[in-house]
Amino acid sequence: MENSVIVITGGHGGIGRVVVYNLLKNGAKVIVLDKNETTSTKIKENENYTFIKTDVTKLEDLQYAHKLIQEKYGHINYLISMAGINMKSEVDGIKGITFSDIDKSIKLNLTAHIYLIKVMLDLVEKSRAKDKRAILMISSINAITGYGLPAYSAAKSGIYGFMKSILNELGKSSIRVNTISLGTVPHMDQEVEGDEYFEHYIKHLAIKHFVRPTDVYDTIYSLLEISKCINGQNIVLDMGQSV
Ligand SMILES: NC(=O)c1ccc[n+]([C@@H]2O[C@H](COP(=O)([O-])OP(=O)(O)OC[C@H]3O[C@@H](n4cnc5c(N)ncnc54)[C@H](O)[C@@H]3O)[C@@H](O)[C@H]2O)c1
Repeated sequence: MENSVIVITGGHGGIGRVVVYNLLKNGAKVIVLDKNETTSTKIKENENYTFIKTDVTKLEDLQYAHKLIQEKYGHINYLISMAGINMKSEVDGIKGITFSDIDKSIKLNLTAHIYLIKVMLDLVEKSRAKDKRAILMISSINAITGYGLPAYSAAKSGIYGFMKSILNELGKSSIRVNTISLGTVPHMDQEVEGDEYFEHYIKHLAIKHFVRPTDVYDTIYSLLEISKCINGQNIVLDMGQSV
């Protein structure tokens, strides 16, 4: 991980912060693309942390980020596409979701991943060490289980199809590409016990504790640095929740 150049979208979110903190702790040079500027002081103070304010749904923002990364590092080893969230009206299902939220959800949760990879691909190809080229996209078990959220779930499922479609093309440049489908992951600052939402979902888990953001980091670390033969896979991280 030491000195690897890693770009992560959504790196200021509840899971992203923990991932970024641990990547930095292990010596990586981390560039966060997020529309939210706020993160922890420990992250901000690390000399290997770079923030580029980016709306990942906007092509011009991604192109600007590409320019800055090209100037600063000239390449990317690992690209982690994590930014994503469901829209408010999706919780009311297909009858309740607004047309505007359908478009917004697909744009953020699917199209933005495709834009990001298309824009940043040449920088990943410029990484000298061929065994240190990889792309990870963060999906959800909503892609494989009937948990509602129609547009979000369709988009998260679409990520998997997209990953398979680019596998052979990227393989020619020795770039590995995988998706991680997360079950419920409470953030570090969220109280789980006594919370109605979490009490409901814990009943679905084969092992009765939730995946933690640090578990997400461990899986990311393994896919990037250790398990280098895993390619074209959707890794489900959910304590058995989707089964
Ligand atoms: N937490 C969970 O239970 C859970 C479960 C399944 C999947 N996931 C997935 O994991 C990923 C991270 O989730 P999280 O829980 O950390 O969410 P979060 O809401 O805490 O963080 C999402 C981050 O994405 C950023 N973002 C949103 N829209 C953006 C945009 N247009 N441009 C740039 N940045 C944008 C936000 O600013 C935020 O920092 C998401 O893709 C989510 O769908 C999370």
